[in-house]
Amino acid sequence: MDFKAVKGTRDFYPDQMRVRNWIAEAWRRASLRNGFEEYDSPIFEYLDLFTAKSGQEIAGQLFGFTDRGGRRLAIRPEITPSLARMVNARINSLPRPIKWFSLPRLCRAENPQRGRLREFFQWNVDVIGADSILADAECIYVAVDALGELGLSADDVCVRIGSRPLTVAALRAAGVPAELTGPALAVLDKRPRLSDEDFGKLAADAGLTEGQIAAVGRFQEASSLGELRSHFHDCDEVKADLDDLAELFATLEAMGAGDYCALDLRVVRGLAYYTGVVYEVFDRSQALRAVAGGGRYDNLLEVLGGPKVGATGFGMGDVVLGILLAEKGKLPDLSPRIEYFVIEATEELRPKVLEVVGALRRAGLSADFNYRPQSIGKQLKAANRRGAARAVIVRADGVSIKDLASGAQRDRALEEFLRAPAGAEHMQ
Ligand code: HAM
Repeated sequence: MDFKAVKGTRDFYPDQMRVRNWIAEAWRRASLRNGFEEYDSPIFEYLDLFTAKSGQEIAGQLFGFTDRGGRRLAIRPEITPSLARMVNARINSLPRPIKWFSLPRLCRAENPQRGRLREFFQWNVDVIGADSILADAECIYVAVDALGELGLSADDVCVRIGSRPLTVAALRAAGVPAELTGPALAVLDKRPRLSDEDFGKLAADAGLTEGQIAAVGRFQEASSLGELRSHFHDCDEVKADLDDLAELFATLEAMGAGDYCALDLRVVRGLAYYTGVVYEVFDRSQALRAVAGGGRYDNLLEVLGGPKVGATGFGMGDVVLGILLAEKGKLPDLSPRIEYFVIEATEELRPKVLEVVGALRRAGLSADFNYRPQSIGKQLKAANRRGAARAVIVRADGVSIKDLASGAQRDRALEEFLRAPAGAEHMQ
């Protein structure tokens, strides 16, 4: 039988694992230096948690199953509902604002395509218990901070920022009835990935008229806050949301992330729970799917049985990011490295080799050796293949420590080396 990995999943051989870890470590460092703490949740939950407020799109992508007790469960397609559930359970004892991050493995039953798989990792950064737009700005800042550390500049990626309440106001102003707001937002979210013809069909199916589509289109074209203000004629109803956007951009500018950010009202977001500013990170040429997406969701905790507490955050997947980093040549040389490779001059010296290997490892240094007896030349080749910085050649009368990059070599007595193996690092 020929067993293959399931479509849309990935095997991580060590070379792919090194890339995955390199990205995850940058995510973790950026989170910690911005004052966020790590959490995690179970990989499966009661199915209802994910159907309560995330919207049709995600509900249709669930890997659901029934356990032996007849409970309806699902593998997590996102971590935000689990985060809301966890925070709700301890809402009175957690000091606010709650600044948490996570690196969950998620599953969505999507049609696998470039940048979208059925299993992926997604860095999540959220602030809960803060209504201030500063919390939204800080989340965007963390995303930019990590992208910068990974080598992506403002010429490579852009955070495109829109607003749910302003989009809803534009739909209302265009005469779209309130009960069609949800379906209209879902269609607008898909618009950038559709031809005009397909979008027109979907919009008509959602009940929008051509006039309404055109009016919302004019709103979405606004490319500055000034244009946006004049679109709404400074109407009072949207004043707070316009001010929020202005403060968000001013804050991002002050934090030094302004170059990475742009107003883009075509960003609507697919998930149903967003209530405030929304954003997606794209490569500048917009050739790929979104690298990240997020926004404010002030009702989710309440919908899931908790109090009304403001929340905001984003998720960044590893798939599009990995493609972009590879395309831009930003992946560093991640070939495996060890500090020492220990070589036996003759087979009888094997017990001493094991002693040296043990002493190095106990001193916290990485060390490896060959299982099979081989000539010194072959063992040196193996040391190079393993990316060793130094070789220790164990001879009957002592050890030679060879720096494999420079070729410099130094001899020491075996006892002396065993007493202080770490000192061997300093070649003269
Ligand atoms: P989302 O837009 O569904 O948002 O996903 C965010 C990011 O996760 C996407 O931009 C993409 O990088 C990655 N992603 C999503 N689906 C896939 C897939 N099938 N394959 C590979 N990567 C994928 C959320 O999940 C929200 N819960 C984010 C959030 C956190 N909002 C507030 N806090």
